[in-house]
Amino acid sequence: MSKFALEVKSLTKTIGKKTIVNDVSFEVERGEIFGLLGPNGAGKTTIIRMIVSLINRTGGTVMVNGHNLDESFTLAMNELGAIVENPEFYKYLSGYKNLRHYARMALTEISEERIEEVTELVGLQHAIHDKVRTYSLGMRQRLGVAQAILHKPSILILDEPTNGLDPQGIREFRDYLRLLASQGTSVLVSSHLLSEMQLMCDRFAIIEQGKLIHISTMNENEDSQAKALRSVEMEVSNENLASKLLKEKMPTVKISSMKDHRIILSVEKDAIPEINKLLVMNEIDVFEILNVKATLEDRFLEITNKDKKEQMV
Ligand SMILES: Nc1ncnc2c1ncn2[C@@H]1O[C@H](COP(=O)(O)OP(=O)(O)O)[C@@H](O)[C@H]1O
Ligand SMILES: [Mg+2]
Repeated sequence: MSKFALEVKSLTKTIGKKTIVNDVSFEVERGEIFGLLGPNGAGKTTIIRMIVSLINRTGGTVMVNGHNLDESFTLAMNELGAIVENPEFYKYLSGYKNLRHYARMALTEISEERIEEVTELVGLQHAIHDKVRTYSLGMRQRLGVAQAILHKPSILILDEPTNGLDPQGIREFRDYLRLLASQGTSVLVSSHLLSEMQLMCDRFAIIEQGKLIHISTMNENEDSQAKALRSVEMEVSNENLASKLLKEKMPTVKISSMKDHRIILSVEKDAIPEINKLLVMNEIDVFEILNVKATLEDRFLEITNKDKKEQMV
């Protein structure tokens, strides 16, 4: 058993004169859920399609559970499970018959018990004998996962799996992935949503214009919760005086708007009680302190901007 379920080194794809994926390297540990985060067009799907051998690589190596895709193609592919586009099923057959069909095509022998096991793992036991056309999108997605893991791959690869799912479906899907990972199957998953990656993944790589520009660490995710700037809205008795005081005494606090007794500030979490004290001690009444949302996207920008700055130094 290799230390990593997946090792990607210097993965590159050029089409014509355009470099779509540029020297991308990362490793996915055993039992880890690893994300590829990036805006549309960043190159996530291209990276995934190269890993699962749907398209040729221009350069780079891919190792799946220690098997090099170039040297031991069949062994390496047998360690992969993937849903790349929307999972395709025979809609007029039951979920069970679809799984049976895939089981027959698999390289390794897949037992009846294994089919039952994956059905339960994705929570489809009550609907597995219904026709797939009666399934919701979420159920089809789960059947897709069941099919992809039938042959017990080391790593499951999913390209934007939650597209089209409702919040409840996304949540359930996340739980199934976590369960799978806890049993030792690694997961590589892509998304263009930071909040989703944060909830779903142990670590994630940020992909921008074909390049891997940052890999988050677990610690960083926790630290930045406290250190990240957040928008806070305060209702005060005198916003002009408040703003004057803040500029004088706490110059690092950024005031982004001010009207009708309300000021909106960009601050670290730790500064909030200090601001409150400062105002109250100067006889400015504070009626309300609200956390304004959208800080997650701010953090994504913070990370990407920070990286750019570091690269420039
Ligand atoms: N076959 C292709 N020919 C030319 N350009 C392509 C091809 N496939 C993808 N691209 C381009 O490569 C970039 C990355 O695409 P893609 O991997 O689909 O990004 P993502 O999945 O992150 O949205 C895009 O600019 C896309 O237009
Ligand atoms: Mg894509």
